[in-house]
Amino acid sequence: MKPTDFIKLKYKPTSNDLVCLFRVEPNKMTLKEAAANVALESSVGTWTDVHEKKYVHKLGAKVFSINKKMVKIAYPSELFELGNAPNILSSIAGNIFGMSCVKNLRLVDIQFPQKLLRSFKGPKYGIQGVRKIMKVKNRPMIGTIVKPKLGLNTKDHTESAYQAWAGGCDIVKDDENLSSQKFNKFEKRLVTCLEAADKAKQQTGEEKGYMINVTDETKEMIKRAQLAEDHGSKYIMIDIVTAGFSALQTLREADFKLILHAHRAMHAAFTRNEHHGISMVCLSDFARLIGVDQLHIGTAIGKMQGDLELVSHLDDNMERKIVKANKDRLAQNWGKVKTVFPVSSGGLHPGHVPFLVKHLGNDLIIQMGGGIHGHPNGTLRGAIAARQALEATMKKIPLKTYAKNHIELRDALNYWKK
Ligand code: 3PG
Ligand code: 3PG
Ligand code: MG
Repeated sequence: MKPTDFIKLKYKPTSNDLVCLFRVEPNKMTLKEAAANVALESSVGTWTDVHEKKYVHKLGAKVFSINKKMVKIAYPSELFELGNAPNILSSIAGNIFGMSCVKNLRLVDIQFPQKLLRSFKGPKYGIQGVRKIMKVKNRPMIGTIVKPKLGLNTKDHTESAYQAWAGGCDIVKDDENLSSQKFNKFEKRLVTCLEAADKAKQQTGEEKGYMINVTDETKEMIKRAQLAEDHGSKYIMIDIVTAGFSALQTLREADFKLILHAHRAMHAAFTRNEHHGISMVCLSDFARLIGVDQLHIGTAIGKMQGDLELVSHLDDNMERKIVKANKDRLAQNWGKVKTVFPVSSGGLHPGHVPFLVKHLGNDLIIQMGGGIHGHPNGTLRGAIAARQALEATMKKIPLKTYAKNHIELRDALNYWKK
């Protein structure tokens, strides 16, 4: 097949097609030629004609729309192996990024055909299932990440988690780069933190979740997840990009009675540059397809400090639109496939809560690491301040007003306003 065989501008995609939207920046050729090469290399072709049998052509991808740099390509679902995430990515997000015919190439959006969606497990719990387990009906959940991100011994890690739960955090997670280093072994941390979560639950009357990070080689991950389930944990957490999609599929197929929290560390290597790589929306799609229950989507706050008054001018903020698009995508109707709880985390403190709820709604998990442990009066007060900020927001009271008779919140707002 020649590149021109992949240009079908009159083609109308069918429900059997997987459709991709690419942003194509051609290199020393026309946009149309570059688009044809993307379709060719991501389906059945290669750089030169190999005189293949005619029957192969029906699996060829079809460029059916070219609008400025935005190119739409339809792939017959028979091109892929059902239920095999790495296989799909190796076509639509594989060799094409390295081709000399493009200066930049970005996979911006994907639309999956139902038969592909049905071939994956999807989330075991989804937003409603998580709310049921955590007994948090409709408010956002508040979480923290034990800080410093690495280095604490198990005893101090556990104490920090306990203070956060006691102060009002629903969930506490390990940081993305904590696994089972010498200074804080997985097995011991699992036991001590679950005991601490139980103690905080008795004291507060609230369900408490510990998201222990199982990220490791796949067989070891399965062992760690089994341990977490055996010890009665509600959650586990996995770094889905560094662990890889096959590992994530293996973990999901094991179908543990555990809420799967997905951290996306390394995603920015390919999501951040809007001219090249893969959008976070596409990464979110694969995470949901494979079946995580919670996924980090960004904060939309960027480096901004302060509460709504300070950040309201962000309305035209691109980052906010991107994070909102990610959040909406995780709730998009995919038939029987459950939704995924969006997680906002990274650089947040109590002053950010009204903005986050205003722009991202109540089906949201707000995680603050430094924004709780860095509170001038320590972790416990930091967690209390975070919950106070949420209470004020749910009651539609400005934080500054609520802070007048909520000292932990007042101290947090003063401290991070500096
Ligand atoms: C690969 O998978 O390495 C490439 O598809 C090699 O194929 P080519 O030699 O036709 O580029
Ligand atoms: C995370 O893993 O979510 C981040 O480490 C959050 O930490 P921060 O709130 O201190 O940015
Ligand atoms: Mg982190």
